[in-house]
Amino acid sequence: MTLVRFISADGSEVQEVEAPAGARLLDVAQANGQPLEGTCEGQMACSTCHVIVDKEDFAKLPEASEMEEDLLDLAASVTRWSRLSCQIYLPQGLARLTVRMPDESRNMQGR
Ligand code: FES
Repeated sequence: MTLVRFISADGSEVQEVEAPAGARLLDVAQANGQPLEGTCEGQMACSTCHVIVDKEDFAKLPEASEMEEDLLDLAASVTRWSRLSCQIYLPQGLARLTVRMPDESRNMQGR
């Protein structure tokens, strides 16, 4: 089990949930009411599932594919710790994972 912490874009809200290894982060987020649209349902065509991973946790995740990197380049509020949550499957043995919602989830025209 991984303890996943979701932090709201402005940092004011924190939600902690447990999820099993192999669970897809986008599914965990949506099941818990996090504001990730995931419009393309993991087809890597939308980037509305963008999250910002905690710096230390980032290195514990399998690396992003080139396609994911390319799509992230187009996402709003992207940082070097950005990932597409539809491409993250919780690795076995990961105790904690903290991710923050990007600002765009509050302000859709904020480009
Ligand atoms: Fe569309 Fe992740 S859900 S890229």
